[in-house]
Amino acid sequence: MTEIHANGCRLTDVEALRRIVLARRSARRFLTDPIPAGVLEDVLAITQRAPTGYNLQGWIAIIVTDPAVKIKLRHAAFNQRQVEDAPAVVVFATDTHVARNFENTASHALELGHWSESYANYLRRIIKAVFGREFFGVGNFFRWAGMRSMSFFRPMPMVPLGDIGFAGYGWKQTALAAQNFMLAASAHGLDTCPMEGLDERWVRKAVGLPGHFSVPLIVPVGRTPEPSKLSPRFPPEKIFHRDRYGTKFVGIESLVP
Ligand SMILES: Cc1cc2nc3c(=O)[nH]c(=O)nc-3n(C[C@H](O)[C@H](O)[C@H](O)COP(=O)(O)O)c2cc1C
Repeated sequence: MTEIHANGCRLTDVEALRRIVLARRSARRFLTDPIPAGVLEDVLAITQRAPTGYNLQGWIAIIVTDPAVKIKLRHAAFNQRQVEDAPAVVVFATDTHVARNFENTASHALELGHWSESYANYLRRIIKAVFGREFFGVGNFFRWAGMRSMSFFRPMPMVPLGDIGFAGYGWKQTALAAQNFMLAASAHGLDTCPMEGLDERWVRKAVGLPGHFSVPLIVPVGRTPEPSKLSPRFPPEKIFHRDRYGTKFVGIESLVP
């Protein structure tokens, strides 16, 4: 009998995940066949389970299947043809005014009993400090000062947003969702290509995104006629360190030659 872990996963899930991860390769050519009904919807449902900081859920995705919009996106992506060929292209965008989501997040979490009232109030203060935009406001001060000495703010688990800015913060969240998307697509037998070769302004214009959204990547999705070879990766010893930088974490068997 297959062992079921406390989190509901089974040992066989590891093999399935490995297969899915290995099946994902960046596709540069796509068949124009449409994606079967219901498949994209399931992929998107899985995508939405991606985590976000403070559960602010500041990313959105625009699923483009209209050929006219795809042509515009191809131009925005410096004429990379996979954008036009793929039956769908997903534009992943992040809201740089993500703090506006907080009250929605809080009321939803309170309603479901996921957060207590005091936790919501505590987070409300943090959100103001991290994301507040008033010129002489606490947010600007924290971001400015946070860059200099995080130790001063130890009592608050804040991200030092000053270093990365609002867009950087959002890109991080959005990239996690995009990875969920690519793996879910892979599991459904679809191919994808994460793409950063784009001009954000043109992408925004192509899909009518307001200026407070930033676009870290777009992902064409469909089926490729010729799956690419598995791309190489550095030896694990170069990537993984034990306890501190420079001490190799040994014993990892690479999935690729
Ligand atoms: C954030 C990101 C942006 C990328 N942008 C492009 C792109 O604009 N065009 C492209 O053809 N491939 C793009 N790629 C694909 C990479 O070239 C590819 O992931 C890498 O060579 C590893 O190959 P694999 O995805 O097949 O494992 C991008 C990948 C990532 C993760």
